[in-house]
Amino acid sequence: MSDLADYYRQRATEYDAVYEKPERQEDLTRLRDLLPPLVAGRSVLEIAAGTGYWTTALSSSARSVVATDLNDETLAIARTRSYGPGEVRFEVADAYDLGAIPGRFDAIFAGFFWSHVPRADVRRFAAGVLDRVERGGVVILADNSYVEGSNHPITRSTPDGDTYQTRRLSDGRTFEVLKNFPTVEQFTADVAPAQVSWTDLTYFWLATVSQ
Ligand SMILES: C[S@@+](CC[C@H](N)C(=O)[O-])C[C@H]1O[C@@H](n2cnc3c(N)ncnc32)[C@H](O)[C@@H]1O
Repeated sequence: MSDLADYYRQRATEYDAVYEKPERQEDLTRLRDLLPPLVAGRSVLEIAAGTGYWTTALSSSARSVVATDLNDETLAIARTRSYGPGEVRFEVADAYDLGAIPGRFDAIFAGFFWSHVPRADVRRFAAGVLDRVERGGVVILADNSYVEGSNHPITRSTPDGDTYQTRRLSDGRTFEVLKNFPTVEQFTADVAPAQVSWTDLTYFWLATVSQ
């Protein structure tokens, strides 16, 4: 398991605290409102679903959601939430091996995962996602914008353009975590020649990508 996956496995039970930051509430409501129309009636593959926070919004309008994550520990928490009316199924799966997931999907959603993809792997990851969505389907990505004071400070950057943060769990253990904050220009180049529609909120961005 990668360092990233191990960090989120260790963090699973305290992950949802990130959705309680007071300054982000308005943006979270906006993002939760933006998602359902994008997936209405669609068969959705959710990548790196974590504790299922966004799965609830997706399942409110989607025909079905297959919510996947590399960590069964985060999915165990996701299984305790209420969903629907769309059908929801959970599966352990690697975001870099989407071909292993059975099913056909006309929408793919990944929340807060793009920022954790190393620059060296971004085009491979994007190609894997775009390959997995049916023709005429849509890929939806949402993630953090960097806001001083709300995000963990960036502690290190590499010549590749990766940036890192130091994260601390409630028991005091610290982890260095890759967390990138792309511009719309960089993101658009990373998924080219696919078309991008980009929405900037204050704390988050939302991109829909179609071929
Ligand atoms: C920032 S969390 C996002 C969780 C959820 N999408 C959300 O927005 O609340 C990143 C998630 O990626 C998962 N993860 C890490 N590496 C992964 C991989 N290679 N494939 C699938 N999931 C992975 C972690 O277990 C974690 O749940």
